[in-house]
Amino acid sequence: MKIALIGGTGNIGEGLAFRLRLAGFDVIIGSRSESKARLKAEYFNSLVERLGGEGNISGTINDEASRKADVCIITIPWRYAFETAERLRDKLAGKIVISPVVPMVVENGTFRYVPPKEGSAGLKLATILSRSKVVVAFNNIPARRFANPEEKFSWDVAVCGDDEMAKKTVMDIVSEIEGLRAFDAGGLENSPTVEAITPLLINLAKKNKTSELGIRFA
Ligand SMILES: NC(=O)c1ccc[n+]([C@@H]2O[C@H](COP(=O)([O-])OP(=O)(O)OC[C@H]3O[C@@H](n4cnc5c(N)ncnc54)[C@H](OP(=O)(O)O)[C@@H]3O)[C@@H](O)[C@H]2O)c1
Repeated sequence: MKIALIGGTGNIGEGLAFRLRLAGFDVIIGSRSESKARLKAEYFNSLVERLGGEGNISGTINDEASRKADVCIITIPWRYAFETAERLRDKLAGKIVISPVVPMVVENGTFRYVPPKEGSAGLKLATILSRSKVVVAFNNIPARRFANPEEKFSWDVAVCGDDEMAKKTVMDIVSEIEGLRAFDAGGLENSPTVEAITPLLINLAKKNKTSELGIRFA
């Protein structure tokens, strides 16, 4: 299965890229810049090979990555994710699109969830990408720890989606990544609750002076 990371050159893209490749998926790094995507792909390949895997991650512009992939993950900051989705709408039609997007702002040092009028980033993406199957997942993964190959974690991933087959596919993808366990979190109407956990995790880590936090349902 080919999985594209749209804007996969950033923080959450890093852990997703090498961990999905180690789990056996074909990974395509998307970027606004072809050369940036290729450089990142080369770096991820050397990392995957150092970790004992086969590095055949490729890098290209977001349009081409969307066209080639079976599943696309929008790994772009929320302020730009929606306009990018609008631009890629035709290329993403018929495909599974995963949203790890969390709209939030910092006010007086505290992170606050700021959902769009549709109710959540996932719901807004589902409106924009009405011909795609939008599934919300990976929102509560702490990017820095996830990108550290030495990090050993046991985290849960709440997965929301209205298309049951697409949700099942995404839960299977999540569960292939070592240390992650997928939970069915129902339809997209539950995505505001899932997205809102992320600022809580960041605020808890800051207040309690811990490293970044993931979640475990136990
Ligand atoms: N960071 C976390 O801990 C974390 C955890 C869970 C979920 N998330 C979610 O994952 C998404 C990505 O977060 P991140 O921290 O990985 O973001 P990031 O590193 O700040 O940015 C990711 C990529 O987005 C692209 N980008 C930046 N501005 C853009 C624009 N105006 N138009 C199109 N693309 C643009 C850039 O790629 P190019 O320059 O190569 O095009 C950049 O490398 C967010 O929606 C966030 O809510 C983040």
